[in-house]
Amino acid sequence: MRRKLAAGNWKMNGKLADLAVLERIGATLPDPGCDMLVCLPATLIQPAAGLCESTALRIGAQDCHTAREGAHTGDIAAAQLADAGASAVILGHSERRADHNETSATVRAKAEAAQAAGLSLIICVGETLTERDAGTTLDVIGKQLNASVPDSADAASLVIAYEPVWAIGSGRVATATQIGEVHEFLRARLIARFGAQDADGIRLLYGGSVKPDNAAEIFAIKDVDGALVGGASLTADDFCPIVTALAAS
Ligand code: PGA
Repeated sequence: MRRKLAAGNWKMNGKLADLAVLERIGATLPDPGCDMLVCLPATLIQPAAGLCESTALRIGAQDCHTAREGAHTGDIAAAQLADAGASAVILGHSERRADHNETSATVRAKAEAAQAAGLSLIICVGETLTERDAGTTLDVIGKQLNASVPDSADAASLVIAYEPVWAIGSGRVATATQIGEVHEFLRARLIARFGAQDADGIRLLYGGSVKPDNAAEIFAIKDVDGALVGGASLTADDFCPIVTALAAS
């Protein structure tokens, strides 16, 4: 059985004063019944990790560099994130693919660096609306998955997040049929590449406008092992019911 995972993504939001949200999440769900993670801006990782140490809430990052260290002004290495207290990192989020022209080859190199630093990987894939309308969704996602995931990935440290670009921050959730189709495809592709035994342990998250009022419906879909939650991870009032719905699914 795969342990379910509710992962928040604060993106470029939050200051020190907002860490109270994490304290509330930890206090509200001392034993959530699933894994619970919030991926924070780099400035908040260390204080958040300290604050949440004795809670069930784990702290993650949103990106890392491909290199171990060196002359890369403004960048952060995976080992520095681990050193600050992160246990996982989001890689290949569509906002990074779009804003920073990140290719799947770059995502793969970052994933290898993150793995070497002992971080769990949340690798994102997803189609644009143009690609969905053109009927190329599975083709696009298959290529992203293939090129972004390193051969050395293993079930214990790899999570794949399916995030349709058009569903992120738009309030427009993919339908159960659309999510189910992509997750089934991802599972089949992972089995083909890593073998049934290993692929069976890799968790598949859905992301894109997950909210308290649609979470239960999304978590009932086959092969959905959790969610990557953006906007609704910014408050305990929104995030906690999503975690609870996941644990109950
Ligand atoms: P959203 O973001 O929940 O605000 O749509 C999801 C994400 O980008 O990870």
